[in-house]
Amino acid sequence: THVVTEACIQCKYTDCVDVCPVDCFKEGANFLTIDPDECIDCAVCIPECPVNAIYAEEDVPKDQQHMIKINADLALSANFKTITKRKDPLPTAEEWKDRTDKLAELKR
Ligand code: F3S
Repeated sequence: THVVTEACIQCKYTDCVDVCPVDCFKEGANFLTIDPDECIDCAVCIPECPVNAIYAEEDVPKDQQHMIKINADLALSANFKTITKRKDPLPTAEEWKDRTDKLAELKR
């Protein structure tokens, strides 16, 4: 599977969803997750993300390993709904795009 890491939190640019051939992205309030049961590892979403939030599972950086389980868990959450069309980023995107350690902000 591919994994959305903390960089997405508070940004949610959504460029990634337009290119996904299998509609594996699910949208929460301030984060998108990839459903590991839907992702076909095509990797086309990786270069689309302006904040480089997306990695193949085997390439997830050490400090983002916790996001593998979080993606899988949130994909099953009723608070996360399939998104297939790009929309405006969050109003907080510009302010948060270069920040790290955003996990405390994640709305589940
Ligand atoms: Fe998030 Fe990047 Fe997609 S910020 S919504 S993973 S384009």
